[in-house]
Amino acid sequence: MPQALGFDIYGTLVDPLRMNERLRPLAGERADRFSELWREKQIEYTFRRGLMRSYADFGVCTRQALAFAARAVGVQLSEENEQRLIEEYQNLPPFPDVAPGMEALRSQGHAMVAFSNGVEATARTLLQRAGVLSYLDDVVSVDDVKTFKPDPEVYRYLARRLQRPVDEVWLISSNPFDVIGAKAAGLKAAWVRRKPEAVFDPWGIEPDMVVPDIEELARKL
Ligand code: 2OP
Repeated sequence: MPQALGFDIYGTLVDPLRMNERLRPLAGERADRFSELWREKQIEYTFRRGLMRSYADFGVCTRQALAFAARAVGVQLSEENEQRLIEEYQNLPPFPDVAPGMEALRSQGHAMVAFSNGVEATARTLLQRAGVLSYLDDVVSVDDVKTFKPDPEVYRYLARRLQRPVDEVWLISSNPFDVIGAKAAGLKAAWVRRKPEAVFDPWGIEPDMVVPDIEELARKL
């Protein structure tokens, strides 16, 4: 039975931690920590801005998180290097299972959209370069409602864009905060547990499905 699927992007379709490769020339052995801290702060800033009702788009959160992480690991970033890293963020490679998995899901007739904190234009460029955009019917950005995941409003917006009641929409995400947010808003949710050691938050709110990747999702949905 064809479903309506909203795919998280960062961590689910592409891996933001792969920025460590671009950071290595600048940060050497601190590159991995730099990349992890950048991602942690980027997401933390979205949570804080949501609670503060002080919205700034995901591009601002990403840039400010980069500046924080550079200072925290002791790397002096020139404006030129900062700009280059921000541009590189749109060249993140897809996980290897994404194209075959999306192909299989398309052949099953599902409605499929990207659903991200990212600004739509930025997300489209990233997905185009990653070879994923052609599998999607649309790109839905929380920027349209000026708040961030896991605000319930963003999940209701996703359902409106898919023209389905919330309980007929699936959120597909590797990020437990996103899965819990979607479930709390009444959606169904699949957790893409990309690392076997990944821990799900013990909130008593569980995903409807746990899969290691998008190909398995296509087999189980
Ligand atoms: C997203 O793509 C931030 O991973 C989150 O919305």
